[in-house]
Amino acid sequence: MLTEVTAVRYVTPLREGGSLPGVVEAVDGQGAYATYVMKFTGAGQGRKTLVAEVICGELARRLGLRMPRLTQILLDPVVGLGEPDQQVQELLKSSGGLNLGMDFLSGALGFDPLAHGVDAAEAGRVVWFDALINNVDRSWRNPNLLLWQGGLWLIDHGASMIWHHNWRTAATASAKPYDATDHVLGAFGPDVASAAAELAPLVTEELLTEVTAEVPDVWLTDEPGFATPDDVRHAYVAALLPRAATIHERIALGEPQPKGAAT
Ligand SMILES: Nc1ncnc2c1ncn2[C@@H]1O[C@H](COP(=O)(O)OP(=O)(O)OP(=O)(O)O)[C@@H](O)[C@H]1O
Ligand SMILES: [Mg+2]
Repeated sequence: MLTEVTAVRYVTPLREGGSLPGVVEAVDGQGAYATYVMKFTGAGQGRKTLVAEVICGELARRLGLRMPRLTQILLDPVVGLGEPDQQVQELLKSSGGLNLGMDFLSGALGFDPLAHGVDAAEAGRVVWFDALINNVDRSWRNPNLLLWQGGLWLIDHGASMIWHHNWRTAATASAKPYDATDHVLGAFGPDVASAAAELAPLVTEELLTEVTAEVPDVWLTDEPGFATPDDVRHAYVAALLPRAATIHERIALGEPQPKGAAT
């Protein structure tokens, strides 16, 4: 289960945009304070975005990719009462209860394909992972990769696993190819075959069961067509398990380009 912390203060918004993530200060059960990136249940995109963040983030970390630690943040809407920004106050008011948190990587730099390099092995691992989860949000326009403490960190997996928006067609949708033509690491010669050989065998039913168990029940209840949260968890496992075995054969990369020519 993800560690639970309690929000004490809204510090600052991270960026204007869809989900309005913010930085909050929160305290854990031992009384230790820290800053977290918080993604709100009251944000327009809904709880499936948060489910995708948990499943994909926890999977990435277990596959050896760098991914900030995730937490559950309890929010008392009272925290927003003194907030001068009307939009932020509304967001806090509508997000009482459980929200998603992530360790705030202080001083992290957004990855820029024109300025930074990635070797073919690491690029291959990231592209293969994004193909597995069908992540459409790692383009050169919006890389969702951070550089921090000498390494490349993955963030923002809310727009993956599109099949969970329509479970009736999930088996067909999750068997589809992955379009990586505008993937931010496509220009770095990603060695997808080696990544698949290394990572696919790690994606077992046990691992996926462990990862889906991290999703709080409240985000999986009352899903149409499912009796229990565990039934929904099984559906995620059933979609990802076969995809892991063969997706490397169905990744469309763009034309090979010299490094830095992705724009
Ligand atoms: N753990 C983190 N540590 C430091 N900075 C972060 C972290 N997570 C996100 N950020 C910064 O905040 C920005 C927005 O975060 P993120 O990409 O997760 O949300 P978003 O793209 O705005 O959400 P959405 O795409 O749903 O609108 C990132 O581009 C990055 O600059
Ligand atoms: Mg983003």
